[in-house]
Amino acid sequence: MASVRHLVCRWWLCHLSKSPTVNTPGFRRSKRFSTCSRRRTVMPAWVMDKYGSNDVLRFTKNASFPVITYPNEVIVKVFAAGLNPHDVSMRGGYGAATFSMKRDPLNIKQSGSEFPVTLGREVSGVIMECGLDVKYFREGDEVWAAIPPWKQGSLAEFVILSANEVSHKPKSLSHLEAAAIPYVAATTWSALVNTGGLSKDNCAKKRILILGGSGGVGTFAIQMMKAWGAHVTVTCSQNAERFVRGLGADHVVDYTAGPVEEPLSALEKFDLILDNVGGDAERWALNLLKPWSGAKYVTLVTPFLQNTDRLGIADGMMQTAVTVASKALKHLVKGVHYRWGFFAPSGPALDEIREMVDARQIRPVVEETFDFSQVPQAFEKMEKGHARGKTVVQIIKEGNDL
Ligand SMILES: NC(=O)c1ccc[n+]([C@@H]2O[C@H](COP(=O)([O-])OP(=O)(O)OC[C@H]3O[C@@H](n4cnc5c(N)ncnc54)[C@H](OP(=O)(O)O)[C@@H]3O)[C@@H](O)[C@H]2O)c1
Repeated sequence: MASVRHLVCRWWLCHLSKSPTVNTPGFRRSKRFSTCSRRRTVMPAWVMDKYGSNDVLRFTKNASFPVITYPNEVIVKVFAAGLNPHDVSMRGGYGAATFSMKRDPLNIKQSGSEFPVTLGREVSGVIMECGLDVKYFREGDEVWAAIPPWKQGSLAEFVILSANEVSHKPKSLSHLEAAAIPYVAATTWSALVNTGGLSKDNCAKKRILILGGSGGVGTFAIQMMKAWGAHVTVTCSQNAERFVRGLGADHVVDYTAGPVEEPLSALEKFDLILDNVGGDAERWALNLLKPWSGAKYVTLVTPFLQNTDRLGIADGMMQTAVTVASKALKHLVKGVHYRWGFFAPSGPALDEIREMVDARQIRPVVEETFDFSQVPQAFEKMEKGHARGKTVVQIIKEGNDL
């Protein structure tokens, strides 16, 4: 019965999609993949049915095939998926309260209705199907995107996204390389541009400090800031020094050699600090900013999701608002701005980043590549090791179908 409802529902929802039939004039038929998405109801994917450690990851050939329900949606055939430390945290249930609220704002569904969940926050692939209102993309376009954590992820053959979350992929990158960028790029863009107020026109010679420069966000942020003409100081471990200098860092401070606040406070003060590490940095880092000049400290390590997981949505948000407001005020009277940065999906931001990538100002930093069958190994590796860039999973070999 359920499957009959599903098929009827699919037939109805197909009317929201403008995926052409093979007889439609002007239809660009791709040679590289099948266009029969409408006839399918299942697809291969890695899913989890509860939160936990690596053993909750389960491969299935019968994950639900995505269906266009809004006219601005697109279905993307996934060639490569990028993984982030955030996927490891989400596997354990981090952020579950907030993401459930985003999926089901009226709280109609039962707790646990989000399962099965598919992880993977980055995708590079090809547009398979477009909703009726989608103007900017056509079937067969090569695209990349950062996937919001409340949506099904890219460890699957197909993923559904809003067209405004998607962008055309850089021509100079393979799908595997492209999948290493969108989530960290969108997070960095949100932190530095939306929250930090930086742009390519106001960055020249600004002094930027990146705490934790050798991971996913840090390696992207160094390159973006150098492309915009800033002077970049980075903290990382000693064995990452050559690596971050290779990405353009002007000055590197080794946090494993002792408290970094001492060498950093001997330097000229900064216009902006991006904190990817958290911990006790807030205690000393704001003293490194130029006071009364609009200088900002933007941290990506915030208690927002822990608060909502621990206290529930209403109390967690209240607690978060009180915390951030009191910290911002405390620092404002000293002449510096204290801000929290968050990931925000954005196709337009990825469009700008594509230009920088194709101009060779930003390169992907892929630490390791895994096959679709090796997803648990990829998670295991991310949990164990120090990041030196991104972990990428090849879902489909370019030129092949599954
Ligand atoms: N708020 C949001 O929406 C949002 C979104 C995405 C990410 N984030 C957060 O942003 C942070 C960075 O993410 P990521 O993906 O770049 O993580 P990542 O790839 O794990 O990188 C973190 C890096 O920090 C370095 N590190 C660790 N301790 C350090 C210290 N005391 N001082 C300096 N460097 C240190 C490590 O490098 P070494 O090997 O050199 O030690 C590691 O490479 C994470 O905390 C993540 O949770 C937040």
